Amino acid sequence: MSVINVAILGFGTVGQGVCEAIDTHQDRLKEALGKEVKVRAILIKDPVKQREIDPSIKVTTEFKDILDIPDLHVIFEAIVGEEPGYTYLSKAVEKGIHIVTANKAMFAKFGPSLMEKAKRHTVSVGFEATTAGGIPVIGTIRQLLKVNEIKSIQGILNGTSNFILSQMRKKGLSFETALKQSQEKGYAEADPTSDIEGYDAFYKLLILSHTAFGRQPDWKDIRRRGITHLTAEWLQAAESFRLRFKHVGSLERDGFNRIKGEVEPVLVHDTHPFYGVEDVENAISLKGSLVGRITLLGPGAGKCPTGSAMVEDFLSLIQGKYTASPESAVHNGEVLEDSTGQWVLRVPANEDYQRWIPLFTLKDRIQLGDFLYVFVEGRKEDIESVLTSQEQIQAVSILDEIPLENAVKEGIAVS
Ligand code: HSE
Repeated sequence: MSVINVAILGFGTVGQGVCEAIDTHQDRLKEALGKEVKVRAILIKDPVKQREIDPSIKVTTEFKDILDIPDLHVIFEAIVGEEPGYTYLSKAVEKGIHIVTANKAMFAKFGPSLMEKAKRHTVSVGFEATTAGGIPVIGTIRQLLKVNEIKSIQGILNGTSNFILSQMRKKGLSFETALKQSQEKGYAEADPTSDIEGYDAFYKLLILSHTAFGRQPDWKDIRRRGITHLTAEWLQAAESFRLRFKHVGSLERDGFNRIKGEVEPVLVHDTHPFYGVEDVENAISLKGSLVGRITLLGPGAGKCPTGSAMVEDFLSLIQGKYTASPESAVHNGEVLEDSTGQWVLRVPANEDYQRWIPLFTLKDRIQLGDFLYVFVEGRKEDIESVLTSQEQIQAVSILDEIPLENAVKEGIAVS
């Protein structure tokens, strides 16, 4: 049986995950490919650290040793940060080696140029593991939604943040304790600032943008906020309104082909599919011109889910399912919709909607003065007392969409 030779760059949670996935699922890979997959080498940083690696695999600290492997077909990259990941993958592509990466910071910035380079060198690029852990969202867009024009994307894209928010709300844990637990479970980045300040979700959103829309918005036009200002009291107070704080990245393409985006904590009503997305789970909701709204849920981080994303990506790549530039740059500006599976924005038009009012800036609160209640540092307050105070309160957006059928039942929309 012929062999596919692969190497792995980095042996942290993700590198170990892909190595184990190849080992434990070798039979399934053989069946699908008709070839054996052999890990020839692993690039590590610290030669002193103890690792359990099969002695038949070369372990090296020199990238040159990897490039020198004869007949190397694919490199899996599981390094953190823009460099040296980008340089290594550029060299691999120039040598005609296919690449599969999990490195979101690198791919958000250099993904478009790596894809271009790969096209010139007729190799393929897999980047499923950069976004939403084990959820096959990139593959869904690249392979299964090629005719649909994607209009908007919303996602809980950072497993660490979602885990922290869930633990703080459910168990009343402090932010620091919940963060520590997420680090112990291997969800957080080596430097968790990226997770808790929203950079990780921001990179993933940009990768989704390029995949779905064929381009990224200007980075400075995307509002980015993390979760560090939220407290267990706020999270628990929101619960009493049947609302939960979720850290959500959103992208929308308007009729003029402009892309708007933001990454921030938002309040989600209990009718929304994101409400029940707990702990390390991620969720992505896509709106396609034909299919309407689809939502994918699953594990957003961790060794096995990321290993899963990488080997599935590898299989698709070897089977030739990726063209070098699959993205849909063509934009018709029109979304065809029927009444099934659609979600509508609920507009709080009357005084019955007391239960889910987010925080507003003073200016917004005055403009939206028909709301009865607001949260003030986690406490429910009467609108009158808040309006008369001079206190500035932080703004929180609300993602308050409900299924069209419910909206019709509640008289918010007509069918
Ligand atoms: N730190 C990332 C997260 C890992 O928590 O989502 C997966 O990308």
